[in-house]
Amino acid sequence: MNMKSMLLGLVAATSMMVSTQVLASGGDMHLKHAEINVADQEQLLRGLTVFTDVCMGCHSAKYVTYKGLMDYPELGISREMADELRGDKALTSGMTTDLSPEDAKESYGKVPPDLSLIVPGRRGGADYIYSLLTGYTHDPAGKVADGNYNEVFPGHLIAMPDPLSWLDHDEADTADLEKQANDVSAFLAFIGDPHQNERRAIGGYVMGFLLLLALVLFLLKREIWKDVH
Ligand code: HEC
Repeated sequence: MNMKSMLLGLVAATSMMVSTQVLASGGDMHLKHAEINVADQEQLLRGLTVFTDVCMGCHSAKYVTYKGLMDYPELGISREMADELRGDKALTSGMTTDLSPEDAKESYGKVPPDLSLIVPGRRGGADYIYSLLTGYTHDPAGKVADGNYNEVFPGHLIAMPDPLSWLDHDEADTADLEKQANDVSAFLAFIGDPHQNERRAIGGYVMGFLLLLALVLFLLKREIWKDVH
């Protein structure tokens, strides 16, 4: 294999990795883009607060335990913070809502899904969550009541009441609501795949190593062939 085809191979491998990332993040034209950074501690902690203060009124993230929260360097959660968050729940308990499935059914007609794996589980991922939270609007056909019409929810009729009060917000609050929606989307994207930062770092080292290897092989090849004309 000569240097040219080796380089071409590397370029092809890199672009394949990039394009699967793009595909995995969903190509839906109607979704808004979520401004998230799953390595940004401040955003993740703000998102955690939105999650515990608002979403956990109805939803759980049962695969994330309070103890588990302390294990991620991205969050930097101390034992005191974990104790404060868990209240009288055990440290090893998952983040579960106090709303029982029966009461949820009675109030909303549906049991709110667990959100631990919602970002990897929905097409569009964090963009979908962000678009959903900011997607409450008036039904253009005037059929669905305000608060149950969502522009990105499949079928548009959603049982979740507008959790950030997007619909009856003051125009001045728009930026604030967008921020809350972004922050909680970042938190959900993080817990849905908590090793993604680590994996990305390893991916960087691997690519660096491969490039270095390519260079060494190229120099070696030149050395071996230098007397052959
Ligand atoms: C008052 C209760 C309540 C609150 C608070 C609430 N939700 Fe929901 N949520 C629901 C219900 C009920 C559903 C099921 C909706 C359906 O299937 O029609 C749901 C569904 C969802 C879904 C799944 C949508 C889908 O594609 O199936 C997501 C994502 C979601 N909620 C995110 C959130 C987030 C994030 C928050 C906090 C900002 C939140 N919810 C707050 C009740 C709630």
